Amino acid sequence: WRFIPLFGLMMLLLTGCGDDTISALKPRGPVARDQMFLMELSFGIMIAVVVVVFAIYLYVLVRFRKKKGEKDIIPKQVEGSHTLEIIWTVIPIILLLVLAVPTVQYTFKVLEDHRENKDALTVKVTAHAFWWQFEYPSLGISTAQDLVIPTGKKIAFELTASDVKHSFWVPSLGGKMDTNPGLTNVYYLEADDADTFLGKCAELCGASHTLMDFKVKSMEPAQFDQWVAKMKAPAAIPADAKAGEQIFKDNCLSCHAVNAQGLGAGPNLNGFASREKIAGIMPHNDESLKQWIADPQSVKPGAKMPAFSEGAPNVAKALKDQEINDLVKYLNSLKLPQ
Ligand code: CUA
Repeated sequence: WRFIPLFGLMMLLLTGCGDDTISALKPRGPVARDQMFLMELSFGIMIAVVVVVFAIYLYVLVRFRKKKGEKDIIPKQVEGSHTLEIIWTVIPIILLLVLAVPTVQYTFKVLEDHRENKDALTVKVTAHAFWWQFEYPSLGISTAQDLVIPTGKKIAFELTASDVKHSFWVPSLGGKMDTNPGLTNVYYLEADDADTFLGKCAELCGASHTLMDFKVKSMEPAQFDQWVAKMKAPAAIPADAKAGEQIFKDNCLSCHAVNAQGLGAGPNLNGFASREKIAGIMPHNDESLKQWIADPQSVKPGAKMPAFSEGAPNVAKALKDQEINDLVKYLNSLKLPQ
């Protein structure tokens, strides 16, 4: 009985996992569905084993209990039973086979079957401490933090990392797969319908591992094609953002590209104003953006981006408040065309 509050707390915590866009228990694509089936299968087998073991246990408790008025007797001593030993060796072997066969099957299905699939759209994923870079070699675009994919199409993710080991995980679509420096792992995922799914880094990689989030936006193929076209269209910088553009060129452009294909030490900011979050985790508003530029370490400890306000650690250049405001204005003008 004293565990009831503990169970209550666990239930409460588990109900917190009800989000449709980040739950392996609510699959939104074929790979996630296969993996859900494996979870159900192993869970079912575990429940069956627990039920049988408890039934035998309760039966023995009742059947062989000491009855009233019965004397202390020592039951017949048994040493070894071939029949029993065979039973409790063979049953687990069968159970493990039932688990192993579909698990191995699905593992190869996701890795091998689709490798021949020339239809798959290739997205090169490079994990960096603590952000994600996405390149579409066949489309000539690259982006960061917000991964956009068409629905109903297999996406071949070529996964690698620039610094340490990270892990690419989109629970609703399936996963996960390590991203290793100097090595490319291929993994296939597919989304059923249009939505925004949450992705996470699933390998402890440093101080801000837990903040290394990204988004997966799945779109109908026609909308996806539009998105690609928008990404390639040159951004129109309004006149009142020109001052900020110059500050950006002087201070930021060495790391941050702002065009369709550019790659750099930092995230490509093409279409930045259309992204949902700042640095993958902060709400997208001016205050967050100012805080990020002023002192990234205060948001993501260990982030490689230098600070731009006086007094912060790791300052590249102390910008005046007005300059940071101009920079924010410029970054917020980097919208994808409507
Ligand atoms: Cu990257 Cu954890």
